[in-house]
Amino acid sequence: MPSGHQQAVQEQFTRTAEAFAKFATRDTPDMLAERVDFAGLRPDDTILDVACGPGAFVLAAAPRVVFARGVDLTPEMLRQARAFQAERAVTNAAFDLGEAEKLPYVDASFDLVSCQFAFHHIPRPEAALAEMRRVTKSEGRIFLVDSVGPEDKATSELHNQIERLRDPSHAATLSLPEFLQLFAAQKLAVEKQHVLNRRRSFNKWMLRAGHDRSSAGYQTVRRLMEESIPGDRAGFGVTIDSDGLRIVHQEGMFLLRISA
Ligand SMILES: C[S@@+](CC[C@H](N)C(=O)[O-])C[C@H]1O[C@@H](n2cnc3c(N)ncnc32)[C@H](O)[C@@H]1O
Repeated sequence: MPSGHQQAVQEQFTRTAEAFAKFATRDTPDMLAERVDFAGLRPDDTILDVACGPGAFVLAAAPRVVFARGVDLTPEMLRQARAFQAERAVTNAAFDLGEAEKLPYVDASFDLVSCQFAFHHIPRPEAALAEMRRVTKSEGRIFLVDSVGPEDKATSELHNQIERLRDPSHAATLSLPEFLQLFAAQKLAVEKQHVLNRRRSFNKWMLRAGHDRSSAGYQTVRRLMEESIPGDRAGFGVTIDSDGLRIVHQEGMFLLRISA
């Protein structure tokens, strides 16, 4: 039985599944290729992608590994993933319904377990990471990708308030020290880490969450973004150019190993 927050996740990603699937599987091949490279996949790997969404990573990884599996909470996302799998005729992949906090697999099942752009939707990311560690083989790796939030408390609060107004299923974006603490608490050593700035169109980012320019949600979030410009009070590095607002998300990629 999904929790209240998980129901909010399901509602959000059922409503926006098509727009998100287009973004993840067709519009951003460079971003996907960066992640596939960073993960360091091996031909004898069996992998799991937690909160796999429309399956972009699973299906890009499948040709490089023995078997790729994805698990997600939102049935509509899994429907998109399976349709994409059929279109690509990928035979060594499968998609399951399940919660990151309670993965439906036995201990030590996978060589690599990843989770991408989903920790900020999970109110107890430590529970998800513990589950990812449990299903990873002792010599295996964990690959985590997510937005990285501001360290300053007031900036972080406004940042997360704006994110939640855009998408009620947003829980919190962790800062880099918070990610590193989470890894240390699970005795996971950072083997490789890359943090980068992803500049994007505000309007496209809003559309992916279901807000067009005429919606009340769009107007509220835009006003808060514009008001945050002096002193970059929300940590979005907002700028205005001829195409409208542009914002920046910091993104972190981490390759982790079980260290004890
Ligand atoms: C922003 S999408 C990212 C999808 C995919 N990882 C990608 O990068 O394209 C977030 C996904 O996380 C899933 N999700 C959120 N909370 C979850 C949880 N507790 N357990 C499993 N899936 C979850 C949502 O259903 C959604 O498909």
